[in-house]
Amino acid sequence: MRTSVIAFVNNKGGSGKTTSCANIGYSLAMMGRKVLLIDGDMQLNLSLSFFDEEQVLQLASGEKNLYRAIKKDEALDDYIVATPYENLDLIPSSTLMSGIEYELFTRKQREFILKNALQGIRQSGNYDYILLDAPPTLGSWVVNILCAADYCVMPVEASPWGLFGVANMFEFIDEMTGLNEALELLGIAITKVDSRKNYFKQTLDTLRQVEDVHVFEHVIRVDSEVEWAQDHSKPIAEYKRKARSAGEYRELAVEMDEEVRKRWQ
Ligand SMILES: Nc1ncnc2c1ncn2[C@@H]1O[C@H](COP(=O)(O)OP(=O)(O)O)[C@@H](O)[C@H]1O
Ligand SMILES: [Mg+2]
Repeated sequence: MRTSVIAFVNNKGGSGKTTSCANIGYSLAMMGRKVLLIDGDMQLNLSLSFFDEEQVLQLASGEKNLYRAIKKDEALDDYIVATPYENLDLIPSSTLMSGIEYELFTRKQREFILKNALQGIRQSGNYDYILLDAPPTLGSWVVNILCAADYCVMPVEASPWGLFGVANMFEFIDEMTGLNEALELLGIAITKVDSRKNYFKQTLDTLRQVEDVHVFEHVIRVDSEVEWAQDHSKPIAEYKRKARSAGEYRELAVEMDEEVRKRWQ
């Protein structure tokens, strides 16, 4: 089995990284793909998408979280937690991730700590996909995330300010290929579309004009069920099967899966 590692990145907060990572991961799992999610953000939002606050805080303050593994320079194999859903596992985060930059500062080969920690899981072939949720920063930790990834997906909010900084992100990803030659931008996922507003079309037009950048056909519209689902620590489709955004994430997951397979050829 071939494992694809995909990072969800954009240094703009609120662009839909975590929501996309959680719901694409869930959708891929429901399609029968084996998926491991990694919560790389101290905000714990990805972990909170599957477990309630009490459980997440317990995981975050215990031994089984990403921060502990990185701090102890251990393989991540023993840090995997099963989610309530078939084919879907998680490595939870910790609020201590706030100190990760400092933690990495004195390490040798510090760009590759996460990549090395993931090697065993990758080689086991247990997963089709490893999805990494990145924080809204561009420090050494996000460099680690992008060094560990084969692809990145950039969620962009369809708002007047959503595009702000996207050019910088393209440049950052481009520069990252100096450290990780294999890294490719798989595509841009347009999120939080309000189809009554024309910003949406403008955002799409602008992004579609960028050469060599794939923009996913399936966009995610604004849907109040997203926040309700998150409030209940559930993927959208588990909270409300017929929610519009649940269907949209399902379609986007199929498209992403196809895009990955295309690039294998
Ligand atoms: N399609 C959507 N419709 C409505 N709200 C959304 C949608 N996608 C994300 N949100 C909300 O927007 C906020 C930011 O999304 P999030 O995925 O946390 O972004 P990021 O991880 O990039 O910071 C969250 O409060 C989330 O609930
Ligand atoms: Mg997030």
